[in-house]
Amino acid sequence: MKQIEGFSKLSKQEKIAWLCRTYFGDVSDAAALFERYHNTDSELQKLHDEFIENTVTNYYLPFAVAPNFLIDGKTYTVPMAIEESSVVAAASKAAKYWQGKGGFHTRVVATEKTGQVHFFFYGEKEALQAFVDRTTPIMLQQAAPITANMEKRGGGVRSLVLVDKTEALAHYYQLSATFETLDAMGANFINSCLESFAETFREEAEKEATMQGQYEIVMSILSNYVPNCVVRAEVHCPVGELKIAHLEGETAANKFVQALAIANADVYRATTHNKGIMNGVDAVVLATGNDFRAIEAGAHAYAARTGSYRSLSEAWIEDGVFHFALELPLALGTVGGLTNLHPLVKTALEILEKPTARQLMGIVASVGLAQNYSAVSSLIGLGIQKGHMKMHLNNILNQLQANEEEKKVLTAYFKDKTVTHSEVKRELERLKLTTNANN
Ligand code: MEV
Repeated sequence: MKQIEGFSKLSKQEKIAWLCRTYFGDVSDAAALFERYHNTDSELQKLHDEFIENTVTNYYLPFAVAPNFLIDGKTYTVPMAIEESSVVAAASKAAKYWQGKGGFHTRVVATEKTGQVHFFFYGEKEALQAFVDRTTPIMLQQAAPITANMEKRGGGVRSLVLVDKTEALAHYYQLSATFETLDAMGANFINSCLESFAETFREEAEKEATMQGQYEIVMSILSNYVPNCVVRAEVHCPVGELKIAHLEGETAANKFVQALAIANADVYRATTHNKGIMNGVDAVVLATGNDFRAIEAGAHAYAARTGSYRSLSEAWIEDGVFHFALELPLALGTVGGLTNLHPLVKTALEILEKPTARQLMGIVASVGLAQNYSAVSSLIGLGIQKGHMKMHLNNILNQLQANEEEKKVLTAYFKDKTVTHSEVKRELERLKLTTNANN
């Protein structure tokens, strides 16, 4: 029976037993695997159990670091949590390369976050506007218990306005607010403020004849589209100093600029190009306990802000200097949320020497740019497969359960050969036969 009532009420052992019974014919292999991934430190395990509901075990990702990131004159060792081989190696390689050329230069353009109360209104717009003008100070005042602390620290609600969306959807309006949440990502703060605005809106509307029965509040929620919470990261060097695989100087710079032009002109390429950027971005976002889904959604919406989906980065040559820059919307936090809870997140932030949210924005954008530099360099240089498959070779060998000696022999064998799963399998079988014959 795959349907189950009250699953969440079962104990962890009961949940595992049900999973095994239902999907593994009572074979205990799955249960044993869940157990192996369990932490033996029961306090640590309890912490992870309680992050989400229905936890049955842990799902590990490698936690790595990319050293030598020179960002705004300071050297960082950047923590990255990611499963894809070659991402960390590529970030480290680009970091080292640009370290010798002045490093990454970043600028936080703005840090404003936003959220909306979405509602329908069926009366005259003028009456609604007059109502919102009258009640805005009341909405802000009623939210004071939520905003007081944030305001003390210099943040809070920055604006609250009525937005007419009736051209997009009949009778659709928003109360749209902007916020400064300092070092916090601010999701809870923003959502609490919005729900309070909606509540006051309801209370005040009930007192006015022009509003009664004329409106329907649908929802109140922050937006992950943050085009005014943006950071820029840039690297540059004289064209003559640029070297990408066998390409040098002007040839390298021109080909790089061409690759970026393609990513701006074609959605197929733009998507993959931006995916390469997000390889670096997500890994740091995840390691520092931030919400990578929010960052992903916001980044792709930003990439499409002109009406067509484009590259998030740009490259150009000016006065003999090659420039490569990335502009990204990044609503990040270095306090609150998982940053206080997950021991590895705390450690990651310590490795980054406890950055502010603004500094973290610069670090994340720099890693995204580094990742993009490495990917585009491989593509226009020797091609992606050579480097990629070398890293992948180890994964294939692990999958095929090669021992350490076999890995050594086959890594040397494939040094100058194309790596494919079937080739590796064949060579491993051949090696095993030879070894067995010799023993
Ligand atoms: C692979 O994870 C990322 C790349 O495809 C990015 C790109 O094509 O620019 C290599």
